[in-house]
Amino acid sequence: MIIAIDGPAASGKGTLARRIADHFGLPCLDTGLLYRAVARDVLAGGFRLDDTWAVVAFARCLDPATLDDEGLRAPGVGEAASRVAGIPEVRSALLEYQRAFARRRPGAVLDGRDIGTVVCPDADAKIFVTATPEERARRRHLERQAQGEPVTYEQILDLIRNRDARDSGRDSAPMRRADDADLLDTTEMGIEAAFDAAVGLILRKTSQ
Ligand code: CDP
Repeated sequence: MIIAIDGPAASGKGTLARRIADHFGLPCLDTGLLYRAVARDVLAGGFRLDDTWAVVAFARCLDPATLDDEGLRAPGVGEAASRVAGIPEVRSALLEYQRAFARRRPGAVLDGRDIGTVVCPDADAKIFVTATPEERARRRHLERQAQGEPVTYEQILDLIRNRDARDSGRDSAPMRRADDADLLDTTEMGIEAAFDAAVGLILRKTSQ
């Protein structure tokens, strides 16, 4: 069984994907980490994110064994990831790894921006998780405050709006809900309610 979870930054799709994977006993791939790791490697190598040739070269030799690096979750890395993710050759260099992960038995949960549209268009269940930009900014602001970061709600809302615009406005695999994906708006839902709703949607899809 392949489950595709897509959605914008801070929509809760990562937490949801991990809970769903545990529930169904499936491995989970946070595909954002691949783009984050490419950005990390480019910067660590002393290259710039607008040096397309270097970015593509790093994407082609990405080592998936380095995806559990805690540094990948740092705030600025998501922003850098979103910049490298707009390059079509970067996306195609990372595609086969994602598809091979999904093909393994007994299946997998993948979360990202283009899982239901490009990576696994034949997934058994697809959920597009969303919430208003204001609610997503509120959640991310709480997270950052808990980490002791001096950043304002307005700054985060700005970043979220910019990232949404970049991710959905790019030509190559833009973030969008697949035609056959269920929409899960978590604006007014806590994680438990979102999880219950997601499991319900998946069971409905997979028992049809
Ligand atoms: O956790 P958050 O939603 O902030 O970010 P993420 O899921 O780790 O993704 C970081 C960036 O990678 C996104 O803004 C996208 O530009 C890119 N990405 C993508 O293009 N396609 C994916 N399947 C996953 C992430």
